[in-house]
Amino acid sequence: MKITVVGAGAVGASCAEYIAIKDFASEVVLVDIKEGYAEGKAMDLMQTATLNGFDTTITGTTGDYSKTKDSQVAVITSGIPRKPGMTREELIGINAGIVKDVASQLVKHSPDVTIIVVSNPMDTMTYLAHKELNLPKNRIIGMGGALDSARFKYRLSEALECPASDVDGMVIGGHSDTGMLPLTRLATRNSVRVTEFLSKERLSQVSEDTKVGGATLTKLLGTSAWYAPGAAVSSLVQSIACDQKKMFPCSTLLEGEYGLNDLCIGVPVIIGKNGIEKIVEIDLNDEEKAKLKESAEAVRKTNGLLE
Ligand code: LAC
Repeated sequence: MKITVVGAGAVGASCAEYIAIKDFASEVVLVDIKEGYAEGKAMDLMQTATLNGFDTTITGTTGDYSKTKDSQVAVITSGIPRKPGMTREELIGINAGIVKDVASQLVKHSPDVTIIVVSNPMDTMTYLAHKELNLPKNRIIGMGGALDSARFKYRLSEALECPASDVDGMVIGGHSDTGMLPLTRLATRNSVRVTEFLSKERLSQVSEDTKVGGATLTKLLGTSAWYAPGAAVSSLVQSIACDQKKMFPCSTLLEGEYGLNDLCIGVPVIIGKNGIEKIVEIDLNDEEKAKLKESAEAVRKTNGLLE
C-alpha cells in the first residue's frame, strides 16, 4: 500500500507522520518543490520509526513524480497557506495553478489513484480536480468536513465539560468561515442530543467558534493549522487503505443529491477502498436546508473565479 503526500509543509508532514504512526501503509512518498525539503522531512520522520514503533517507510523527492508511481491514495496539500486576516477564498489564484499541475502529474504515474484534496479554497480545488482530471467521481475527495467535525466535537466537549470521546457530531457545507454548517440539532453526547444539555445561546456560540476554527488558529499561529488537518487526512487515507467504510462529511461532486448540482461541497459520505462509496442523504430541517443552499451559492461563486 503506497501513499503519496504532495507538499512537505506542516500539513503534509503531519499527515505523513500520522499515517506512519497508525502503521497501516507500507510506504509514504512525500513530494515537494523546494530542493531537499521532502527528503529532509522524510529522513527526520524515519528517525522516529524506532521511537514511535512503526514499519512504514517514508521517502521524499524534490518533484520527481515517477517516485509516486502506483500510489493507491494521493493527498494534495500543496499551495500557499493563509495568513492572519485572510480568507481561504483569497488563495485561489496561486493555488489553482498548483493543484491543476500536481493532480495531472499524480494521475500520469498512478492512473488508479484516489485523490484527497486539502489545498484551499478546498471545495473549489476539489471541483477543479474533477474538471481537470475527469476521473470517476468517487476517486476525488475534498477534506474539510472531517476536520471541521473534529473541531466541532472539541468545542462541544468544551461546552459540555466532558471528554471529546463522549461527543458525536458533524459539520456539513462549504469549508469556509461563513459556509460551514455545524449540525447542532443532531449532535449527541452518548446518544443524548446535546440540545438537552446546552442552551440555544451556548450552542450558537459552539457553532460560531467551530466555523472560525481555522481562522482562530491562523491568528494564533501566524499561519494555518497542521495537527488536526494532518490527523483528519490520515483518517480518510486509513478508511480507504483499510476499506473501513467509515462515514465522514467530505467535499464531493453532487449530481442532484441535496438538491444541488455541479459543485463540490461537504456532505456525509462513506469512505472505503473505492474512495467515496456512497453519498448519504440525511433529513435536514428547513433552516438547515436553507443554510446549505446559501453555503452552496458561496462555493459556486468561488468556483466562478476559476480560469
Ligand atoms: C484549516 C485549513 C486546513 O481549516 O483549511 O485549518
